[in-house]
Amino acid sequence: MTQSASIVASLCLVLDRQLPTPLFRQLYSGLREAILSGHLEGGTRLPPTRELAEELEVSRNTVVNAFEQLIAEGYLEGKVGAGTYVTSILPEDVFKTNIDVRNASSGVPMSGAAISRWGASLTAKSVVPIRYARNPRAFQPGVPAIDRFPFDLWAKLTARCWRHPARELLSYGDPHGYWPLREAIAGYLKASRGMKCEPEQVIIMAGSQQALDLTARVLLDPGDAMWIEDPGYLGARHVFAGLGVRLVPVEVDKDGLNVEEGIRRCPDVRLAYVTPSHQYPLGVTMSLARRLALLEWATRTGAWVLEDDYDSEYRYEGRPLAALQGLDNTGRVIYMGTFSKVLLPALRLGYLVVPPALVDTFVQARSIADRHSPSLDQMILTEFMNEGHFARHIRRMKHLYVERQAVLIEAARQKLDGLLQIQPSTTGLHVVGWLPPRRDDRLASQHIQCQGVDTPPLSAYHIAPPQRSGLVLGYAGVEPQAIRTAVEHIARALS
Ligand SMILES: Cc1ncc(COP(=O)(O)O)c(C=O)c1O
Repeated sequence: MTQSASIVASLCLVLDRQLPTPLFRQLYSGLREAILSGHLEGGTRLPPTRELAEELEVSRNTVVNAFEQLIAEGYLEGKVGAGTYVTSILPEDVFKTNIDVRNASSGVPMSGAAISRWGASLTAKSVVPIRYARNPRAFQPGVPAIDRFPFDLWAKLTARCWRHPARELLSYGDPHGYWPLREAIAGYLKASRGMKCEPEQVIIMAGSQQALDLTARVLLDPGDAMWIEDPGYLGARHVFAGLGVRLVPVEVDKDGLNVEEGIRRCPDVRLAYVTPSHQYPLGVTMSLARRLALLEWATRTGAWVLEDDYDSEYRYEGRPLAALQGLDNTGRVIYMGTFSKVLLPALRLGYLVVPPALVDTFVQARSIADRHSPSLDQMILTEFMNEGHFARHIRRMKHLYVERQAVLIEAARQKLDGLLQIQPSTTGLHVVGWLPPRRDDRLASQHIQCQGVDTPPLSAYHIAPPQRSGLVLGYAGVEPQAIRTAVEHIARALS
């Protein structure tokens, strides 16, 4: 057996002509892999290029190109034609690094690796959020009717913005956000949400999730205490818990977060996170008395209130309720909005409205995190809002969601009597279904999932043991016929 044949056989070097990757690149990768894994030891002489080419049934150029690349990167040494050797001075660490990287990419936590407590906590079971199918299906919460997004219009605006972009939009942008978008958002919030808000206070974010992360890091230190709604939004809970904040769960009743209970449990917290317009997941609206009590407590103690107003545009009776921020006279409220529900989650655009005293710090934090959101996307959204498409889209979606919720309620009335009592909601994109007493909602949710329907259990959103068990049903993104079919699947799973 020639030296070529034995190397090809021992390294299992197989080049595949069907692959889009060029043959020289395949050979390069195979040899590099063999060197990094130690199969080809330092000092090993490689066969002559002509011989290896014959053995692999490729042109000599293919082998020469692969060798030259490996020589340029320091894996091989010597001159092509005068003997080529595996470099003998590859440091041990190269091999070690390689092995660790492979472990990480296979999803196996790195044992004993020097990563932060926060990093380690991300692989811990308790922190992994509920995962859904990539392609949303009934009744995954939080997903709007993505198929009803005005794609043609968006494409036209995109083409227009990209055809003649202003020079300043093509370099590094303002971490505060694109000024015309901030003006459009401030105008919208003043008119529709009763807010006190100037464009200077608006900071464009990569969705609420980044707003949560930056707010937590700007306002809280590890060990600080905060109130968190119980049950509440997991996306928020994970951010705060990950930072080492002490979570004080505060019960939610029909009037929203129970402020008195929070004060009784722990009055000296730095922050309260609330979803007053449409509590997530229970769907209740915070009463005016509770809003005033929350603001009075925050003013008196110097605490901050983080208002998450994620889907309040969808109010199906009367006008949208004014935001809590509009009642704040002392600058204690940080307001968070998102385009994920009114447009598309994939846009990754949202905003914070912060009290004037905090603006500079938040803008610095945004700048350090990732500089800014994509400038052209911000410009497209600005045109979308200023030309009236935003308001029109919301109006259209409201009608659609009223219709879809009605289909769900009617289907549930017909098929789920005694199994799941679905509570109609005047706001938002989801409803809650109550299970009969003592029925385990996690088990019910699992059975339903086996039928191809996602209905996360309410208990997954709780910190303290829940009083009642139920399921969360996001109906907004589901066509009427699919709603009816999914309800039949739920009935089958629960009966
Ligand atoms: C309570 C709450 N806040 C915020 C969001 C939106 O998050 P983002 O803007 O990061 O998409 C959601 C989405 O499900 C939510 O349920």
